[in-house]
Formats: sequence, structure tokens, C-alpha cells
Amino acid sequence: MKYEKNDPVRLTADGTAIEAIDQTLLPNRSKTIRLRNAEEICEAIKKLRVRGAPCIGICAAYGIYICARRITTDNSEEFFNELSLAAGKIAGARPTAVNLSWAVSRMMRKAEENRTRPREELISILKAEAESIHGEDIETCRVMSEFGLTLMRDGDSVLTHCNAGALATSRYGTGLGTLLLGAEKGYRFHAYVDETRPLLQGARLTSYELSNAGIETTLICDNMASYVMSKGLVNAVFVGCDRVAANGDTANKIGTSGLAVLAKHYGVPLYVFCPFSTIDTDCKTGDDIEIEMRDGDEIKKMYFEKPIAPDSVECLNPAFDVTPAELITAIVTERGIFYPPFDFEEEK
Ligand code: MRU
Repeated sequence: MKYEKNDPVRLTADGTAIEAIDQTLLPNRSKTIRLRNAEEICEAIKKLRVRGAPCIGICAAYGIYICARRITTDNSEEFFNELSLAAGKIAGARPTAVNLSWAVSRMMRKAEENRTRPREELISILKAEAESIHGEDIETCRVMSEFGLTLMRDGDSVLTHCNAGALATSRYGTGLGTLLLGAEKGYRFHAYVDETRPLLQGARLTSYELSNAGIETTLICDNMASYVMSKGLVNAVFVGCDRVAANGDTANKIGTSGLAVLAKHYGVPLYVFCPFSTIDTDCKTGDDIEIEMRDGDEIKKMYFEKPIAPDSVECLNPAFDVTPAELITAIVTERGIFYPPFDFEEEK
């Protein structure tokens, strides 16, 4: 696996740690952090230093390998007990993005399949599996972005929410992949970027990525989306997602469902982009998707010089919401573009 400088997570050259871009500091500072054990990996995922559904999956996969390397016992049972403990911690770091538990389960399955192999061999197998997960994500994003390009014409303008670009995956991204791949191919697209309160992934990360790629980028506050759509400024809404239920209900960054309601009202198509592995048929509908609740201080304090509301005021801070399938024009994956009615139980 050949890492690139701007992969948001990768292994250090000696394989003893994960190197990750601390996304909480962007765009003002580009700092690389090192994650050496399950505690550091969980902290980075919880604090959103490493974020975006596919990216936390890749980080978790490398995390299982890093944790396996650190286990010193030669006793196989003790080794698996320790590894399962670390796997449980990592898988539980955030609940909504299925990519996290999916990657941990895939790594643990690989470990179980090779349980009887000598320790060093098992560890090399885990490294190779994590690198496959990373490499597959790059290819998956590229292929879904090619499908995305079939939905666009040169000069089109899209509205996007949160950050579903290279920082949230590797290289192209999901919701932003079409724009980034299109830019490479010489298309001229325009992006309207929701700032995405409270953690400003749109303002801090998406506008940074898109403008660096030479894409015309206009930043708006979240409450300006209706204005933008009503004036006919966008041809489509492009978003990524964290989990898709069997019936197509989709969890993504808080605010996505509001955009979907607006898009329906104004007749703007809304496309959801994700790797096929983000579809979780164990969830029959969106009601089965657990929504992460975060600290209210993120609303009042984070990214402000001084608190913007009295300390005593309660905040409600769900990190995601569920967009009902009937508001989604299509779900774009590496296996193709799926239109409603969605029945992913059939497709899996
Ligand atoms: O809380 P975050 O920043 O991890 O939320 C990320 C999103 O909601 C993205 O839209 C989603 O993970 C898709 S990323 C390709």
C-alpha cells in the first residue's frame, strides 16, 4: 500500500502507530498526530480528530493491527482476549457510522480465521487486511464518483453538507468525490457549502478541500439553504452518509433531513453517496439507527472565542439525523446508482 501525504490516516513507516491529520485544527493548522494504542485511537475518534464514516473505519482497521502488535503474550487465548477487549473499545467509540463496527468486525473475522498461525504471521495478515480496507476505500470512492459524474453536466452547481471528501475517506471522498474527480478531468463545477453547525465541518473542511482543488466554492450558513434552492442556484444536493437502513432511510450529519425536505419542496434532486458497506440491513428502517448525542458545549463554546449563550442554558446536540427514503432521489455506491423504492435486503 502506497500512502499519500494527504491521506487522513495511514501507518507510520515502522508500522507502530497511526498517523492522522488532526481535523479539529483545520484549516488553520495542519498537524499530524500519532495514535499508538486503543485509548489514543478512541480519543481521536470521539473528539473528531479523525472523522467521517469511511475514515473512522480505516482508522479502526489500522487500530486493530496496532493493538495486536502491542500484545506481548504468546498464549493464543490471552492474545485473543486482549485483542477483543481493544476491538470492543474501538468499535464503541462512536455509534452511528456503521463503517466503524464493520471494519472492526472484518478485522476480527480475519484474526479468528488465522487464529492458529504463529503470532508474527497473524500480525502481518492483520496489517495486510487493514491496508486492503484502506485501498478498497480509495477505489470504491473513485468508482462511485465516476457514477456521480453521469448525474452532472459541466458547469453544474451542487449544495453539500458536512464534509464527505478526502478527509472523511481517502483521496476522493463520497459526497464530494464527483466534484474532486470532475475537477481532475477538467469539469467546471460550483459548490455551495453549508457551514454545518455546530462543528463546522463544511466551513472548516469542505470549503478548504474544494477550494484547494480549484473548485469554485461559496460558503453559506446552514439557514441559507432554502434561499439558495429557491433562487435556482443549485442543480442538486450531494451528501455522504453514516448508515443506510434496508429500506433506504439514511443517517447523515444533523441537518441533512432538513435539506432533503427543502430539496423536495424546490424540486432539487438529493443524492446520497456511500460505499455499499455503509448499507446495514440489520437496520430495517431509520428508527433502528442509533443517533449519537454529543456535549452541548460544542454548540455554545467550540470554535467561539467566548461562550455564545449563558452557561446555564441546556443544549440538544444530536450529531446526525435520519432522512426518510422517500426524500432521497438516489443512493450512489460503487455498485451503481440505486433509485427508490429501495430494498437493500434484496441487493445484499
Ligand atoms: O461527525 P462527522 O464529522 O464524523 O460526520 C460526518 C458525516 O456526517 C459525513 O457526511 C459522513 O460520515 C459521510 S463521510 C464520507
